[in-house]
This record gives sequence, C-alpha cells and structure tokens, in this order.
Amino acid sequence: MDDFKRREFIKLSAIGFASIALQLNSISSYAQSANAHFGKWNSDTKLNWDAFLERLTKLAKIQHQLPWDQKIYTQKVKQLLLQCNFPEFENIKKEIEFYENKIPNQFEAASLHHEVDFQISLFQFEKGENISHHDHPDMTGVINVVSGNILTKNYSIEEQLSTTREIIKNGRKEVMQKCVIREIENEIFTNGDVSLLTAHEGNIHTLMPKEYTQLVDVFTPAYKPNSKTNWYTVNEDGFYKGRENVFEAEYLNESLSEIKTITLSEEKLNRYIGTYKISDENFIKVFRTDKQIVFERTRSLDTPGQKMSLLPYEDNKFWIEGQNIRFVFNSDNNNATESLTLCIAERKITAIKIK
Ligand SMILES: [Fe+2]
Repeated sequence: MDDFKRREFIKLSAIGFASIALQLNSISSYAQSANAHFGKWNSDTKLNWDAFLERLTKLAKIQHQLPWDQKIYTQKVKQLLLQCNFPEFENIKKEIEFYENKIPNQFEAASLHHEVDFQISLFQFEKGENISHHDHPDMTGVINVVSGNILTKNYSIEEQLSTTREIIKNGRKEVMQKCVIREIENEIFTNGDVSLLTAHEGNIHTLMPKEYTQLVDVFTPAYKPNSKTNWYTVNEDGFYKGRENVFEAEYLNESLSEIKTITLSEEKLNRYIGTYKISDENFIKVFRTDKQIVFERTRSLDTPGQKMSLLPYEDNKFWIEGQNIRFVFNSDNNNATESLTLCIAERKITAIKIK
C-alpha cells in the first residue's frame, strides 16, 4: 500500500511538473511583457519566441502610417532578431530536428508565423542551393543567419530601359524587359549577421550558401495570393556603360506577355486526373470540373488545399491565368501520364503520379 502511494505521488509529481513546464514559456513571456511595461525592456533583453512575436506585431503596424520609413523599420526588426537565440526556440528546434533535404538543389522553407502584416520563415540550404536574382516587390526583408554562411548580393533598380525583346517560351510570346541595377551589397554573412532590404533599396537579391545554412526571414507585409516575384538575369560580365557596380539585367514583363489558351477534349483532360507526390508532406491532386481540370496542393492525401483552375496552352501544358506558373504533364512510353512538372519562374519541381 505504501509502495502504491509512493508511486502515485511520483506520477502526480511528474504530471504536475509537466504542466508547470508547459506554462514556463508563457510565464516568462508574461514576465517579459511586464518588464517592458515597467521600462525594464532594453535592447539587451533576451527575447523568447512569444515576446519576439508580440514586439514584432506592434512594430509592423507602422507600415499603415504613411509615409512608412522602411529603413528605420528594418533596423528595428534587426534589433529584435538580434535579441533572439533562434536555435533554442522550441518551434525552430523542431524544424531543425526534422529537417530533410526533400527537394535536391532547392532550399527548404518552413513557415514559422504568418499574418497579413508580416510573415516569418525559416530557410534551410545545402551548399550550392543558390537562389538566383529575384525581388520582393513592395516588401521589406530582414534576414538573420542562424547558422552557416552565405554570400548575399543586393541590388537596387537604377532605371527601366525601353529595350524589350520577345521570346517564345512554352508556346507563348514572352516579353523580356531590360533594366539597370546597382549592386549595393556583396558580402558573406555568417552566424548572427543580418541582411536588410526595403522596397526601394537592395530589393533584388541573390543568395549563395557556402555550406549548410539556416536563415530566419521576416517579410513585411506578408506575401499575398497575388504577390509576384520577378526573376532577373544579370549580365555580370562587366559594368553597364562602365559605371562601377552597375549591371544590365532582364526580367519577364508579365503584363506585356501573352498566352494562347486552347481547348482540349474531355478524353485528353481525363489523362491527367490523379494524385501526384512531391514529398511525404507535399501532394498535388488533379481533378475535373465540367470542362476544366483543377489543381489542388495539399500537405497530406486527406487534407484540403487551395484549388486553382488550369488552362491548357498545349496538349500536355497548362498555366494559371495571369501567373508565371506552368504545369507540364509527362508521359511514359505507353502514353500514360507518369509525372507533373511545376515550373515556377525559373524553378522546376516534379511530382510523381501515385494514383
Ligand atoms: Fe528573397
């Protein structure tokens, strides 16, 4: 009997301890808020995840008070990031622990927080998983290197050139627009370093990890469904007209480009219906509604995802109206569909048909 009581006591203590442990984060967050209230919060105060989020939520509201000084804002976000020890935070620990290089030659991204005003993501790169020149229109970005080291180049637009050229790609006429950009940063960032970009300064960047690298990024505001990234081809062979650190670049001018949608028979459309797998947590379902096929990307086979109609422009090629995304269905020797390749700007992801 005594033995039983002792065991019950141990069990209760363990449960009690667990519940206290669960509360510790919120207690410490509450304590941090209270300290802030009493003016005890300064730039050296270490923040936990909740306190960081609370501060950032307040700070990000400044974007609605125009004119928004993005330079001051990004400096303040940088300060908050420097007060965090991200690898110690439970949510980030979990992402790092379960990291898997699911898509070769491409970084892995995890959403840590998303709301309209801002979003926070964790990016994990293998050496060589570079991100080519791209922009973040109308956004600011604050990038904190959590581990590893990465070469970052940032550019600002100097001028849009009137020069354009037309190309035929994936069955449509695309208009490539030339512009001139100025390199304003070219630096290797390592543990604890922070790189900044605003809508008008350094908004175009390229990232080249030199080893396995992890970044925490704060984008303000968050991506919207119609947010559009431009990808640039930069002529780095020489300076534009001899101007130091100034380069000619080219990007796809979506508004000047066209696509010709065609009509496919129901029989042809039916060939593509099925479930496609990118990874264990990334599936694509393709199904029919009336005369169209619909694409749905989900995290598992039985969860719903966002649905989008696909429009054909060739027998096996589809696009989403107004977006620089293409879908190419690939067939085996017997003309049966075996995979689907998603072309998002310059990136390609292939999903294997599993049923
Ligand atoms: Fe970026």
